[in-house]
Amino acid sequence: MIIAIDGPAASGKGTLGKRLAGHYGLRHLDTGLIYRAVAKALLDAGHSPEDRTRARAAAQALDPSRFDEAALKAQAVGAAASLVSAIPEVRSVVLAFQRDFGRTAPGAVLDGRDIGTVIFPDADVKIFVTATPEVRARRRAVELEHGGDRIAEAEVLADIRRRDERDSTRTIAPLKAAPDAYLLDTTHLDIDAAFRAAIDIVEAVRAGRKRG
Ligand code: DC
Repeated sequence: MIIAIDGPAASGKGTLGKRLAGHYGLRHLDTGLIYRAVAKALLDAGHSPEDRTRARAAAQALDPSRFDEAALKAQAVGAAASLVSAIPEVRSVVLAFQRDFGRTAPGAVLDGRDIGTVIFPDADVKIFVTATPEVRARRRAVELEHGGDRIAEAEVLADIRRRDERDSTRTIAPLKAAPDAYLLDTTHLDIDAAFRAAIDIVEAVRAGRKRG
């Protein structure tokens, strides 16, 4: 089974993805980490995240088994990842990796921006997770503070709005819900309630398949 979870920054898709994967015994891939790793490689080497040639080379050199998730979650890396992810050469390099990951038994939950639209248009279940920018900014500010990145909520909100705009208006694989995705608005849900709602969606799809 492949479950595709898409949505904007800090919508809760990563946590949901992890929990759904645990529940169904599937592998989990937070695809944002891939773009973050490319961005961090460029920043660390003092290059621009918009340098197409270097970004492509950095994508080809990635080793996902060595990702340092805590370092990749930093605010500056996320902002640079949004720039890197708009480069077509980077997306084509990481596309195959994501497909191979999902097709390896026993299947996977992948979360990102284009999983249900581009990477796995035939995913068994597609969920598009949303929440208001204000709620997402609050969640992300708390998360960043836990990671030692103390940033004012207003600044996080401004960054989230910029990223939403860039991620959803770029020409290649923009952030958008697949026509057959189930919408899950987590604005008023805590993680347990969001998880239960996601399970309900998956179970409803599976039940529908059995009947059909
Ligand atoms: O989900 P995140 O905040 O870790 O993602 C970081 C950036 O990577 C985000 O601004 C857009 C990009 N991204 C993407 O373009 N496609 C994906 N499948 C995942 C992330």
